[in-house]
Amino acid sequence: MNILGISAFYHDSAAAILRDGEVIAAAQEERFTRIKQDHNFPINAVRYCLAEADVGPGQLHAVAFYDKPIMKFSRILETYLSVAPKGLQSFMMAIPLWMREKLWIPMEIEQSLETCGIHERVPVYFPEHHQSHAASAFFPSPFKSAAILTLDGVGEWATSTLGRGVGNKVEILKDLHFPHSLGLLYSAFTYFTGFKVNSGEYKLMGLAPYGEPKYTKEIYEHLVDLKEDGSFRLNQDYFGYIDGLTMTNDRFAELFGGPARKSESEITQREMDLASSVQVVTEEIVMRMARTVHKETGEKYCCLAGGVALNCVANGRLLREGPFEDIWIQPAAGDAGGALGAALMVWHHVEDKPREADGKNDSMKGAYLGPSFEADEIKAFLDARGYAYTCMKDEERADTIARLIEEENVIGHFNGRMEFGPRALGNRSIIGDARSPKMQSIMNLKIKYRESFRPFAPSCLEEAVSDLFELDRPSPYMLLVAPVKKERCSNVDEDVSIRDRIHQIRSDIPAITHVDFSARVQSVNPDTNKAYYDIIKAFEKRTGYGIIINTSFNVRGEPIICTPEDAYRCFMRTEMDYLVLGPYLLYKKDQPNWEEKSDWREEFVLD
Ligand SMILES: [Fe+2]
Repeated sequence: MNILGISAFYHDSAAAILRDGEVIAAAQEERFTRIKQDHNFPINAVRYCLAEADVGPGQLHAVAFYDKPIMKFSRILETYLSVAPKGLQSFMMAIPLWMREKLWIPMEIEQSLETCGIHERVPVYFPEHHQSHAASAFFPSPFKSAAILTLDGVGEWATSTLGRGVGNKVEILKDLHFPHSLGLLYSAFTYFTGFKVNSGEYKLMGLAPYGEPKYTKEIYEHLVDLKEDGSFRLNQDYFGYIDGLTMTNDRFAELFGGPARKSESEITQREMDLASSVQVVTEEIVMRMARTVHKETGEKYCCLAGGVALNCVANGRLLREGPFEDIWIQPAAGDAGGALGAALMVWHHVEDKPREADGKNDSMKGAYLGPSFEADEIKAFLDARGYAYTCMKDEERADTIARLIEEENVIGHFNGRMEFGPRALGNRSIIGDARSPKMQSIMNLKIKYRESFRPFAPSCLEEAVSDLFELDRPSPYMLLVAPVKKERCSNVDEDVSIRDRIHQIRSDIPAITHVDFSARVQSVNPDTNKAYYDIIKAFEKRTGYGIIINTSFNVRGEPIICTPEDAYRCFMRTEMDYLVLGPYLLYKKDQPNWEEKSDWREEFVLD
């Protein structure tokens, strides 16, 4: 039985396909269209999933859409009516899109399937938004039963839910409704500190360790009425997302000492302190909700999804201090993962199919669920374009790449299937030497074309996690922040400017050590990604360090690469030294001249 899951029309559209409950493929639309967080109907992702699962006419049995559009629409109408005539402008902006696209989703799905050769009528199911998130958190997890926490901006009405998964069922026990939303609170601060809502939340989280939580009192007194059980109310007098065109309003600005920071302008101590404050409040809410769902379910484990579950600092704290023995976070925790969750809802709830969980391994296949390219396809591409390359023998590949890393080269690593979710986990990654003090600057300025206050994330051998970090378990999806092992850290002068602090050497792995001596860890094991594991292992043999830098293979403002062509373009646009495409190694200096058609670079800014 083949079930196609779809998420679309908000941000980060995606498709996923299950065959007899097993996830065969999943990918975000942005990777194909090259439009970051593409929200359009994911026709390319759907086409890819059907092809990967080899599903043709008569072979697709159900489609699952990740939310209930009519319910969402009624929330928008009701919300508008509650504040009318205020909010007319944003209401008028939202309506045409709803009339044009969102209310016609079943028809759009049918038409899109037609273009993929599926002409028969296929039943379409619409689980609720947070059911999709909850399903994506629990069903692929290793646990037979677990508490479930979903946290995001908003679905239909729910903005966060407490639930429980047992066997092949998920149940939502409690929910919090719009406009009271942790995701929207975090996004309001993202907006106010000058970052882009829905993608800049990561930057705000990265900025937090530079600041002091000076504004928590103001937040609790004026914005968030937080209850002991983690539920809360947001005082709408300070926000603009219901009756205005911006996330926050003048009163919000007044409370925090002046207008919102303009994007690309200088980041000041105020923004750092605001970031720190909202991070503290976010963690407090997550911890309280976690304690509540723990008390109500009595479960030992917890599964998380929804955009807020990408806050890996909060996740790290929940793991260290929370009431649960272990937690599991869906790697595509944002709305892209809703496509997978919706399909799993149909398999387990509608079809009532059993679920297996061994208590140890999840069923996400390392999140390597996207397109891959065979060596002969890559070779044909390189030959057709006349690009210079050498072929690495299987037994030499890992050590050759490890040697290049040791020599402080920056390497684009393209291999195997593309990752599903926002993180690159080695297959579409730029890699480098985590020990090198200058690597952070080199990679930021020559590759990513930004000056970042955020360090890079590391990939390390799974067995080396505890030697490197204060962490006693794997972190395969880069969703946990943990302190760098104390004995690796060095004292630094904290009384210097943000620019100087960025470049201070804080440990023997400085390129991945954040200003608060933490790191966003990805552990790698040979079962899920042998080729990547072998590179890090070879690097360990050479240097004694089973750890490298892993940053996503893209430049600022662009989605992560998908194809060899995307990889080559990114390689040539930047000052990357080497490109690995499967077994092939390309040296920048050997390549023919590259002419860029337009000036695509953005200005160098601190981001
Ligand atoms: Fe969501």
